[in-house]
Amino acid sequence: MQHNSRWHILETSEQVATAACRQILDAAEQAITEHGSYKLVLAGGSTPEKVYRLLAQADADWANWHIYYGDERCLPVDNADRNSLMATLAFLEKVAIPESQIFTIPAELGPEQAARLYQQIVAEAVPFDMVLLGMGEDGHTASLFPGHQHKEDELAHAVYNSPKPPPERVSISAKALSNTHQLIFLITGANKQEAVKNWRSGLDLPVAAILPENPVDIYIDRDAYKP
Ligand code: 6PG
Repeated sequence: MQHNSRWHILETSEQVATAACRQILDAAEQAITEHGSYKLVLAGGSTPEKVYRLLAQADADWANWHIYYGDERCLPVDNADRNSLMATLAFLEKVAIPESQIFTIPAELGPEQAARLYQQIVAEAVPFDMVLLGMGEDGHTASLFPGHQHKEDELAHAVYNSPKPPPERVSISAKALSNTHQLIFLITGANKQEAVKNWRSGLDLPVAAILPENPVDIYIDRDAYKP
């Protein structure tokens, strides 16, 4: 368990989303003031949707936001299970971030080709300003799953045999996800309790391999956090 994590334990998933949204917006103002742009990596899955809907209602300097994805499922771009479709409907189509600054993972091309293309995008983007991540019930994050081996030097991985459908995915690597000024984990729901306990007890899970220089912020609701 990373010693300098900041655990923000809140009563409900709505409070998790509100608090995380505030930090994401504050980080944007800071990054744009400091270096003129905000490089944000979006998380997949369902947990972040509440955060994205709140961001869509915010007033921000969208012209300087640059959007990346931590992972993507190898499905057609209009498939309801695509992380990019969820983020677009909940957030991106509602704010004025220039299309040219939204870097969708071309996962419809298949794992190998998409990972090769996205490797270049990530190489040009790092360090990120903010990375958002979820966590699965087995302690996976992005599409980094327990027991999967990846080449250390890759910035983006082709993923096969994912235990969480679909089987083929693309994921930014732990090394690249850790190359960020700030990082937020969004974890809600009783089904995450076991994985949280295992993570806190020091089990070698994919979430435990995400180790930025600065402390990570973990926004978690009461249902997911049972000490
Ligand atoms: C994905 C996600 C994955 C997700 C966790 C949590 O593509 O499935 O990137 O890592 O964040 O599985 O998913 P939920 O938020 O739906 O619980």
